[in-house]
Amino acid sequence: MSSSVPAGRTPRGKKAAKPAKAPPATLFLFGANGDLVKRLLLPALYHLHRDGLIDEGLHIVGVDHNPNTDEGFATRLADFIRTLPQHNEATGGQPLDEALWSKVSKNISYVQGDFVDDATYTALGERLARNGTRNAVFYLATSPRFFGEVADRLGKSGLLKESKDTYRRVVIEKPFGSDLASAQELNARLLRVMSESQIYRMDHYLGKETVQNILVSRFANGIFEAIWNNHYIDHVQITAAETVGVEQRGGFYEQIGALRDMVPNHLFQLLAMVAMEPPAAFGADAVRSEKAKVIGAIRPQTRREALSNSVRGQYAAGRVGEAQVPAYRAESRVAPDSNTETYVALKIMVDNWRWSGVPFYLRTGKRLRARDTEIAICFKPAPFSQFRGTKISKLTPNYLIIQIQPNEGMWLDFQAKRPGPTLEIENVEMGFAYADFFPMQPSTGYETLIYDCLTGDQTLFQRADNVENGWRAVQPFLDAWQDDAASVDLYAAGADGPRTADELLARDGRVWRKFA
Ligand code: BG6
Repeated sequence: MSSSVPAGRTPRGKKAAKPAKAPPATLFLFGANGDLVKRLLLPALYHLHRDGLIDEGLHIVGVDHNPNTDEGFATRLADFIRTLPQHNEATGGQPLDEALWSKVSKNISYVQGDFVDDATYTALGERLARNGTRNAVFYLATSPRFFGEVADRLGKSGLLKESKDTYRRVVIEKPFGSDLASAQELNARLLRVMSESQIYRMDHYLGKETVQNILVSRFANGIFEAIWNNHYIDHVQITAAETVGVEQRGGFYEQIGALRDMVPNHLFQLLAMVAMEPPAAFGADAVRSEKAKVIGAIRPQTRREALSNSVRGQYAAGRVGEAQVPAYRAESRVAPDSNTETYVALKIMVDNWRWSGVPFYLRTGKRLRARDTEIAICFKPAPFSQFRGTKISKLTPNYLIIQIQPNEGMWLDFQAKRPGPTLEIENVEMGFAYADFFPMQPSTGYETLIYDCLTGDQTLFQRADNVENGWRAVQPFLDAWQDDAASVDLYAAGADGPRTADELLARDGRVWRKFA
């Protein structure tokens, strides 16, 4: 997430209080030559240094199979970071602060090694000793097929042994498994060589301020919680619309599709934040237990229900903004007759006292009309009787919109009387934009997550049961789709999704709120 205060606006809020610096450690980045490291992790580490949140004794060690030197690796990263939009003056960015970067880069080094070769782990142990830090984080920014392999070898080499004042932590990127069985298997494999307290399962949505703010909005304000239930809420819509296509990831995406890529992880994080019960405290265990409970309460679906409560779409050629873009099937490393979905819409029920009878409609897709991630809480309509005999023919429901990105904030749609002698009403909007209140620095969304990992706060990371409950809830859709020969519904790139997604809501007498 990258935001800044729009020109001409002065934020009204105070700067956040500065937390303590994370203690010295060595951060091993497996998959050091991949995109995640250069696009997100290194910029995030640079921002943490900028904000004084990292001890200068933090060592960053890239680990990958390609040959490189310490200096070559650091230079390659710096060259790339200078090209990012936030450091491009032409697009309003700030040039890389060279003095700051030299502080970051003086502790960057590189270990060349194969992830499945024991010798690599001996080299990592030596590097740790050379760095003189006992704490270590092993960040697995690799292809998922290496997660178990690397964990086994970290365990075998003794690198995961903690002591009273030394920690050893492992960060696992998504995708964590590709279905319930593989997620359970991976959890079991990790837990054979480390304890749950050492595992940081990453979901970068939890690094977004707006996602973290959902709990604060709900639980720090008396007005929301009182109406946050099936007495007042008609249904909830969760949308993650993207304009990008599969980009260079055709080969990976063919195996994954939109459901696995976005739903059990990112969209369920949003659902959990909106639907969970208040935790007894804001500690990692209390928060993660409530999340596990609510995702665990998602109603299982039979094969027939799963088919009728889901829509699979795939983008055809079309126009997104000004650009003419190719169909998914014409993307590189995608089969010309592929049935992989690039769009999914689901209807989900949460079977507990608070949400009984309230559908959650989820949708996400690539190459849609606009980029917009939002949660729309639709309230039950007001009774109409008092307006009978007036010019008003219907009342529209109120929506509370939690805008995750872009234009982070919250908006309430309601109806007001249009000024004039006759009784006419119009939809109006009351809103809070982050940029109006808080000074916002460029950030990637990974800053908080890396800082939390270095300081040992697991609140924003997925516990084993959170991940497994997510897969358990999507498994009926995966199974039903696998047996179902029907192909995906095509939608033109630049559209709002396939027509069948509208029918999913129309059957319940509802409509999707127009996003963005
Ligand atoms: C990733 C998915 O986890 O999240 C991508 O693999 C998706 O397909 C991305 O584009 C969306 O993240 P964000 O932060 O851009 O909304």
